[in-house]
Amino acid sequence: MELISSLKWRYATKRYNPAKKLLQEDLDKIIEAARLAPTSSGLQQFRIIVIKNQALKEKIVPIAWGQQIMSECSHILVFAAWDRYTEERIDEMYDFTTEERNLPKGRFSAYTDKLKSEYLPQTAEENFIHTAKQSYIGFGLAIAQAAALNIDSTPVEGFSADALDDLLGLKAKALRSVTILTLGYRDSENDWLAHLKKVRIPTEEFVIKYD
Ligand SMILES: Cc1cc2nc3c(=O)[nH]c(=O)nc-3n(C[C@H](O)[C@H](O)[C@H](O)COP(=O)(O)O)c2cc1C
Repeated sequence: MELISSLKWRYATKRYNPAKKLLQEDLDKIIEAARLAPTSSGLQQFRIIVIKNQALKEKIVPIAWGQQIMSECSHILVFAAWDRYTEERIDEMYDFTTEERNLPKGRFSAYTDKLKSEYLPQTAEENFIHTAKQSYIGFGLAIAQAAALNIDSTPVEGFSADALDDLLGLKAKALRSVTILTLGYRDSENDWLAHLKKVRIPTEEFVIKYD
């Protein structure tokens, strides 16, 4: 399916068929789309937690404002961003990059010094606002890739991030949850939203042109 058709097909699914599970190869493609997302300075400031375990999915229902999609879906992806920038995180990524590209170590040191001087004096909260923004790029690509595979998904911000971080032990990994993406197959018969028109403002209103 062409991307635009896939994006018209998808909707924020409210009911899943719990009996239909994703194939591993499809799940891998959705994760790969997010991994390939561009990020500021290429730092890949976010990780994805993949939850298939039914008991764990059920524990997320009360954390996610009682949304039953958490237990009905096939998989839950949690997009979690670095809780702050550190010298080590920046160096580690650039050491890896120079190694992968067979460049001399320190090739980017002027640039990483600049990044450190920019981010390290900021508060952890200011850092997190920036790292969380990066995770949304991967989030969007994962939504698009799922749709391209005819897999339903629901982007979710309606959850208590602190409670989810506790449940998943994210603090110990210096990560904070940003968004959830549930994945699965729609239950068209029982989903009130499945047959309603997609609503978007007209392009003329959406685009502001300076010709
Ligand atoms: C960042 C983000 C957070 C959202 N949070 C929720 C949510 O917690 N629960 C939910 O049912 N839908 C959630 N949505 C779905 C939106 O309501 C939905 O995408 C929007 O109304 C447009 O409809 P469509 O996605 O069906 O085209 C969220 C969407 C985004 C992008």
